[in-house]
Amino acid sequence: MSCSALRSVALGAGAYLPERVVPNAWFEGFLDTSDEWIVARTGIRSRRFAAEGELTSDLAVAAARRALAAAGREADCVDAIILATSTPDHTFPSTATKVQAALGVRRGFAFDMQAVCAGFVFALATADALLRTGQARCALVIGAETFSRILDFEDRTTCVLFGDGAGAVLLEAAEGTGAPTDRGILAAKLHSDGAYRDILHVDGGPSSTGTAGKLRMAGREVFKHAVNKLADVAHEAMGAAGVTPAEIDWVVPHQANVRIIEATAKKAEIPAERVIVTVEHHGNTSAASIPLALAAAVEDGRIRPGDLLLMEAIGGGLSWGSAVLRW
Ligand code: ACO
Repeated sequence: MSCSALRSVALGAGAYLPERVVPNAWFEGFLDTSDEWIVARTGIRSRRFAAEGELTSDLAVAAARRALAAAGREADCVDAIILATSTPDHTFPSTATKVQAALGVRRGFAFDMQAVCAGFVFALATADALLRTGQARCALVIGAETFSRILDFEDRTTCVLFGDGAGAVLLEAAEGTGAPTDRGILAAKLHSDGAYRDILHVDGGPSSTGTAGKLRMAGREVFKHAVNKLADVAHEAMGAAGVTPAEIDWVVPHQANVRIIEATAKKAEIPAERVIVTVEHHGNTSAASIPLALAAAVEDGRIRPGDLLLMEAIGGGLSWGSAVLRW
């Protein structure tokens, strides 16, 4: 019953974390907080912060090179670069074009995607649409952030939650059968609701204050939306892919809070043993969190070719989405 269909097949994943490890205890030196509170409420024990002068594009280039190496490909195969970030090097040009230049790629196109913590899923869905309609053959999809640059270190309710890092996946268009047994992206579903834009935002920007601004979040409000919206969109993506929760080998969720990750997996009917969790050592790296977790689990051998993956993420906007991909 199935016929041929173009699929966006993942060839490899790579990640990069800045060297500086910042344990929870570091915040105790200047804030009324504790390692105990942070671990109990979020599951986070440490995160990485970029060095002075180390830019989002630097992290992105390192992750992209590792994804290319994991795929066994040279940069000259790449004809599209989509970089999800809310912490670009500059207002323009896009950080993606800096990555393109650093990789020595002179053809195709490169642009940034801004959907905050849902950015990687939005970028993946966009790359899939471009590959399947023939706009490109081989796409680097990157999530890269330096959230440490937009944190208010006097606000204990936000600054302990976030970290810096980058992850990347190389996708190539390949002929499939159209059945859920195909390798590649099987479905992706995206949502936004700007009515909730104020509960998670940055209080600056080029057109408003003329400054980069700082992150502001009503954490409890975001939490209330997160589990239901993530579980709903996960079911929606699995339905569109024609797969059931029982068939999912690994959930690779956005890493914001271990309590959200566990509650969402339960509502999506997937046991906790099948969820990749890296928030303990990465914190919330926004658009970078899914590809960072994915690259870690591919490298340590948990995720193997043919495994069925479910990704889900929610962030500022609010924006949220889910993708089903056979590795
Ligand atoms: N140390 C000590 N105490 C703290 C800290 C801290 N770092 N931060 C807050 N508290 C206090 C609060 O002031 C509050 O005190 P009060 O009761 O006296 O007012 C108390 O701890 C409880 O605060 P809550 O906000 O209710 O704590 P909660 O259990 O909700 O956890 C958290 C907070 C971790 C932020 C949680 O709400 C959360 O994870 N929210 C969702 C975040 C998220 O998923 N974001 C999505 C993506 S992010 C993006 O898109 C950029």
